[in-house]
Amino acid sequence: MNLILIGYMGSGKSTLGRKLAETLQYPFIDLDDYMEEQEQLSIPELFKVRGEIYFRKKEHEYLKALLQEQDNVVLALGGGTPCYANNMDLITKNENAKSFYFKAGIKELTSRLKHEKENRPLLNRFKTDDELMEFIGKHMFERSAYYNQADVVIPVDNTTELAVLEQ
Ligand code: S3P
Repeated sequence: MNLILIGYMGSGKSTLGRKLAETLQYPFIDLDDYMEEQEQLSIPELFKVRGEIYFRKKEHEYLKALLQEQDNVVLALGGGTPCYANNMDLITKNENAKSFYFKAGIKELTSRLKHEKENRPLLNRFKTDDELMEFIGKHMFERSAYYNQADVVIPVDNTTELAVLEQ
């Protein structure tokens, strides 16, 4: 069974995913890192040089391939992965995959992401925290319908990562 972690940027998919994988002794795959290796470009470079349409196409192809090839892995997706192509269908209809949505609030996401905008091509254009929060609010509204299709919804707040990492 593959465990698929989904959620907005900054929701802790990679940090909590690594910890979960370590506990279960499963390999951990971060789809963004995997794409960077395969494409030999960083995520910001992929957006800049090849464009978002190319990025979404490749993201879909790599997700599809990984779901077919892998078993018993923890796979953390990018924040947008569930919301493009038929990616969420691929996951919900896959009998060998269980999906977990790390659900964080807009304020929590903003406070986490305000210092982590640089490597995130969709966020680095926002100058103030208010602009960032307004965008995250609208973006979450658009994306929630996809995220909420996950098998399990896990609420996360500002203590979740700390609590998990301290165990
Ligand atoms: C994106 C999220 C990023 C990365 C890319 C686009 C998105 O992943 O895939 O910058 O559309 O939300 P993280 O959620 O790991 O930051």
